[in-house]
Amino acid sequence: MPRPYRHGPRESPRPDRAEPWRVKMVEPIRRTTRPERAQLLKEAGFNLFQVKAEDVFVDLLTDSGTGAMSAAQWAAMLLGDESYAGARSFGHLEAAVRQVMGFPHVLPAHQGRGAEHVLMAATVTRGQTVASNALFDTTRAHVEHAGGRGVDLLGEKAYDVRSDDPFKGDLDVAALRRLLERDARGSVALIVQTATCNMTGGQPVSMANQESVARLARDFDVPLFVDAARFAENAYLIQQREPRFRQYSVAAIALEFMAHADGCVMSAKKDALVNIGGLLAFRERPLYDRCRPYGILFEGFSTYGGLAGRDLEAMARGLREGVDDEYLAARVRQVQRLGELLERGGVPILRPVGGHAVYVDAARFLPHIPWDEFPGHALACALYLSSGVRGVEVGSLMAGCDPASGKRRRARLELFRLAVPRRVYTDNHLEYAADALIELHERRDEVEGMRFEEQAPVLPHFISTFQPVGRKTVVASH
Ligand code: F0G
Repeated sequence: MPRPYRHGPRESPRPDRAEPWRVKMVEPIRRTTRPERAQLLKEAGFNLFQVKAEDVFVDLLTDSGTGAMSAAQWAAMLLGDESYAGARSFGHLEAAVRQVMGFPHVLPAHQGRGAEHVLMAATVTRGQTVASNALFDTTRAHVEHAGGRGVDLLGEKAYDVRSDDPFKGDLDVAALRRLLERDARGSVALIVQTATCNMTGGQPVSMANQESVARLARDFDVPLFVDAARFAENAYLIQQREPRFRQYSVAAIALEFMAHADGCVMSAKKDALVNIGGLLAFRERPLYDRCRPYGILFEGFSTYGGLAGRDLEAMARGLREGVDDEYLAARVRQVQRLGELLERGGVPILRPVGGHAVYVDAARFLPHIPWDEFPGHALACALYLSSGVRGVEVGSLMAGCDPASGKRRRARLELFRLAVPRRVYTDNHLEYAADALIELHERRDEVEGMRFEEQAPVLPHFISTFQPVGRKTVVASH
């Protein structure tokens, strides 16, 4: 039965509510049965990163590298220049970065963490600090790998899941000032604004905050970098939520946001709409010169950085497409609609919904599961079992262990993220995911906590295996 049409008959037609693209190519996806999934989950050691993608019906594990490229991106790939040095495709990428971000110096990298590796190796020495609103886990791991320490300085509002503050990604400027004043000059190697802030709900950083942070960075002579994985969604949310930017295009806002920074690292797998790729970009030559040898060492020569020429072409187009107002409005609205459906069904989520994902408040969803039994992860397993929908924990499991003490870090929030790939799923897929989670919420008492079976030492959420608490051998019966 077709669903009743969503809009009232008297409302005038709204073309802006439809996606500004149509589908040219489709990929079948497979449904599995619950008994199959119970077995698959067991075989995967209750780690959804170990489940085969073909055994997932709606894959909301990540929005990273999972988007659909445009016909123009695919066409550009055929024109990729595969020369080792000085490829034309690199020139196209440089031009796109200059146009979209305003940075003249570019180093490609194979993905975001490749770029982070280069930046941290070149700028962080043992004992130094990297201050941030909130570092993504790979970024923090690279700071620590270089011997440094990452300090998150989000304001308190970021940890209040019910607050509707429009800019929960803002860095606490007073705390940053205290840090810069207290520590000896030179002990803070970098400031990183992660926009949007993935660890706490895809929440945006306001332009006002970026301006204040940039002022402090200048006063204390510390480079300011943007983790630009979702810079376009951040700019779109500024347009929607920061009144003085209501009339600006996303492209203009993105350029202005970057104008306050000395450079950026980017996982192009998100807002540059490619399946693989990353980059570093710099305003001034000296920082570029410092990073370049590390780029060559870790990633490859500075005009390809671990990528094929065709990847550089796709990234150059994707960067421009990624800041299109109509595309972003449809994209973010789809994510927000998922949030609305869940809220309507009584599922506690982190408010307001950000740019790329809905974050379920796993602590409130599963109040009977303590933090060290990973409620977000328990929820991820239970939802996969009941529906074939895959999401991911963002909480104390992803937070890992403190490198000095080896102790588990307790995250401020226990979240379960449903990330929406770009231009891939229809609203029907997301409606199915919402229905499944609402149904699970109604029998949430049945969900059990998780404990490690085998714990991996670094980034444990990817490869560790687990068991539901209180059982030796598991029959996933709920
Ligand atoms: N920065 C942010 C804010 C990210 O979200 C990610 C990746 C990275 C850096 C690292 O980029 O994966 O290309 O090496 N986030 C993915 C996610 C993995 O699922 O959110 P990468």
